[in-house]
Amino acid sequence: MECRVCGGTDWQEVVSFGLVPLANGFLDPADSYDDEPYYPLGVISCRSCRLLSVTHVVDPEILYRDYPYVTSDSDTITRHMRYVAETCRERFALPPDGLVVEIGSNTGAQLVAFRDAGMRTLGVDPARNLARVAADRGIETLPDFFSAETARSVAEGYGRARLILARHVFAHIDHVAGVVTGARELLSPEGVFAIEVPYALDLFEQNAFDTIYHEHLSYFSVGTLVSLFARHGMRVFDVERLPVHGGSILVFVGRDDGPWAPRPSVEELLRLERRAELHSDAVYRDFALNVDRVRDELPALVRRLAAEGKRIAGYGASAKGNTILNVCGLGPEELEFCSDTTTLKQGKVLPGTHVPVRSPEYAKAHAPDYYLLLAWNYSDEIIRKESAFLNGGGRFIRPIPKPVIISADSL
Ligand code: TYD
Ligand code: ZN
Repeated sequence: MECRVCGGTDWQEVVSFGLVPLANGFLDPADSYDDEPYYPLGVISCRSCRLLSVTHVVDPEILYRDYPYVTSDSDTITRHMRYVAETCRERFALPPDGLVVEIGSNTGAQLVAFRDAGMRTLGVDPARNLARVAADRGIETLPDFFSAETARSVAEGYGRARLILARHVFAHIDHVAGVVTGARELLSPEGVFAIEVPYALDLFEQNAFDTIYHEHLSYFSVGTLVSLFARHGMRVFDVERLPVHGGSILVFVGRDDGPWAPRPSVEELLRLERRAELHSDAVYRDFALNVDRVRDELPALVRRLAAEGKRIAGYGASAKGNTILNVCGLGPEELEFCSDTTTLKQGKVLPGTHVPVRSPEYAKAHAPDYYLLLAWNYSDEIIRKESAFLNGGGRFIRPIPKPVIISADSL
């Protein structure tokens, strides 16, 4: 396999999870589970540019045309999206009638923040089910994958963009070269391409191996992104480290003939990455050991509690959670149900484990002794929201970076 960033072929094997079902492959209990698709899941690291890549690319037509993942309307994410809109408008002096294009715009929640500020917006997203939801809230959305061709037709139909956003979608793209050249063409000379991706350093520091699933083809460091964009006539000029989705970077990229001079943040993070020795095999070997530790300790802890007669349920039917359950071999033997606020997921069962997804109302009426905190990236918000559960003696098991039990006393 050739590296999608640098074309290299010298790979270090990092982790291998065997055959795993799709993390957003929720099933209808009325359907047969017999032909549930499983695909190989593992991660390798390119020794030339240190891109971390999954070993197997699932056809995007299968993954994204009908997509159950809806942008979270949690406080954390809503606040974050407002922040992204404000910071972009201020830093880049976006004109009120300027065009903002979002790749992977989902239900249009992020673009609403720009539209409310008077800007022209256009979403591009292959999920036909979500494009309709976005259209209903007045966000025009092209139901397609973003590519050099899409970029050209958008430029013809709508003009050049002042801002192109790609939040938590860039890591889902196999043909990154096509997307980057398309974005470069679609941007006006002073335009900015803002991408937000999970950060490789956080993946290691937080041991967030649950973000490894088939949709996430790449895990990026700033160094890898700098070299990717440099190959396509673009320049990373600013980077911000953010806590969302377990640790992400918001990366601002301009055309190399544009006005944006590099800010110190880029060199600072590159320095941090050199200090973390992201170029050495050792980092990836250590990560694999930490992953193995959770794969040993978490099932042992959960099974011990279950054997003591404790009732346990999942909290948050996140894609990440499905990686944890499938990779750790936990399922309906241990978990009675999994609570989730997303109506599209309620009534379905989790991929692979077939644990039923229930509403928060159901969960409240059937409160377990322990919740396995599968949406651990929202820990603070959830702990605040569930103070009654905790004060009533309920506990959370936070699986990552290593399994711990959270109780009212431990907080
Ligand atoms: P999320 O972190 O958005 O992403 P991913 O699927 O990429 O891992 O998933 C969080 C899930 O948790 C989502 O399905 C909504 C759910 N959730 C709750 O059920 N309750 C909550 O209070 C929060 C914050 C999330
Ligand atoms: Zn590479």
